[in-house]
Amino acid sequence: MSESPQVLSASQQVKLKGRVTHIPTMREFAFTPLIRIFHWLRFLAIMILLISGFYIAWPFLMDPKSTDVLIQGWMRFSHLIFGFIFSCITISRNYLFLFSKDKSERRSLLDALSIDRWRSQIKAYVFLGKPDEKSGLYGPLQLVTYASFYSCSLIMVLTGLALYSRVYHEGLGQLLYAPASWLTYICGGLANVRNIHHWFTWVFIVFLIVHVYMVIWTGIRFKKAAVDAIISGYDYHTHAHIEPFPVTTSESVNINEPTIPNKSIL
Ligand code: HEM
Repeated sequence: MSESPQVLSASQQVKLKGRVTHIPTMREFAFTPLIRIFHWLRFLAIMILLISGFYIAWPFLMDPKSTDVLIQGWMRFSHLIFGFIFSCITISRNYLFLFSKDKSERRSLLDALSIDRWRSQIKAYVFLGKPDEKSGLYGPLQLVTYASFYSCSLIMVLTGLALYSRVYHEGLGQLLYAPASWLTYICGGLANVRNIHHWFTWVFIVFLIVHVYMVIWTGIRFKKAAVDAIISGYDYHTHAHIEPFPVTTSESVNINEPTIPNKSIL
């Protein structure tokens, strides 16, 4: 026996309309596994570098008169281990941006060079419209922010390695001694290298706060995957071309008939 079609009242249609437009119907591949692993490893590295770095600057857990330097030793050890991990990730990510087979990151450069894309993104951020479809993975403002983040990371790596080569005079330290001397000279002395390394630490704290805020805000504002995309690799969002329900108070809708274009790739 066939079921009789269920007919909705106008108020039910309005409720349904609100629900339907929020259903995630598109699944797009966004981040490769390597990019995701690097992202979370770098997050861990930055957290440990922040804690150990500030501790190195101010070893508050030790009595100044004490000869027990074990805590400071472990802090310096972890700072160096994660400093090298951070350096490797920074270099690898720069390489992947330029030469990865997946071109979606590189295509963001096209958006950053388009005045129209800038305009549409800024308008969307101040609630004056929707952003245009992007050519690449990141919006123009996002790309510029990430480029600045990479420049600061490079400054941390270079000044960090310069400090390292002044403490460890064998192996890599020996190899880096000559270029580090040049960098130290450019900076106006080792004390300045240390100061630059310390000041730029604050950039990472500000970046972390703004980055987490913007990721959550973007997910809510544009109804798309944000935090989950960098975990699963997939971006889920509403179908770009779904038209809102054609609701009129005089018509009824049969919900047994498909009303959404069945183009989901979920
Ligand atoms: C986000 C990345 C990093 C942050 C936030 C960070 C933070 C810091 C801070 C706050 C200090 C203390 C500076 C002071 O004495 O006032 C420090 C020291 C130091 N950092 Fe970093 N750092 C980072 C990356 C690196 C990297 C990539 C290296 C290189 C491997 C490195 C090597 C060093 C060294 C050798 C010292 C001096 C340690 C000592 O005095 O024994 N850091 N760092």
